[in-house]
Amino acid sequence: MKPEIQDAINKQINAELFSSYLYLSMSSYFESKDLPGMASWMRVQAQEEVGHAMKFFDFVNERRGRVILAGIGTPKTDWASPLEAFEDAFKHECGISARIDSLVDIANEHKDHATATFLQWFVTEQVEEEASVDAIAAKLRMFGEHSMGLVMLDRELAGRTASASGADAGESE
Ligand code: FEO
Repeated sequence: MKPEIQDAINKQINAELFSSYLYLSMSSYFESKDLPGMASWMRVQAQEEVGHAMKFFDFVNERRGRVILAGIGTPKTDWASPLEAFEDAFKHECGISARIDSLVDIANEHKDHATATFLQWFVTEQVEEEASVDAIAAKLRMFGEHSMGLVMLDRELAGRTASASGADAGESE
């Protein structure tokens, strides 16, 4: 595995673990607001991000590269509203999508077809990642100040369960 590819993937492992940390922080925020469904949804999301990191981790090792772990940044801890949290999650996912696109560019520059093919799973996954948080943000915008809508959405989001295998990041819902 070329050093440039290895470095870029190691940075992505860090970004995925930071994503997990951010969503766990959002989960804690929702717990503090008595919105257990949203807290649970974010907790599942945090687990899935660890799954994404591990997918990269395994890929580097399979290709006889070396995973180097670095410090994970401090996530934001508070939001003005549930809507602001989901809007932040959407912005964060757009940033992750941009990072995945850059990784594909680097793989292509180095004619590393195995990495480019591996990354296609993430390209597809990011479409779903962006869409799922954006759909929740849209509902929150629609409800506005109506607390009944918030309660109903919270109940709906409580239904999200982790995928069968924690390491299998293949299913987001
Ligand atoms: Fe791992 Fe939410 O992207």
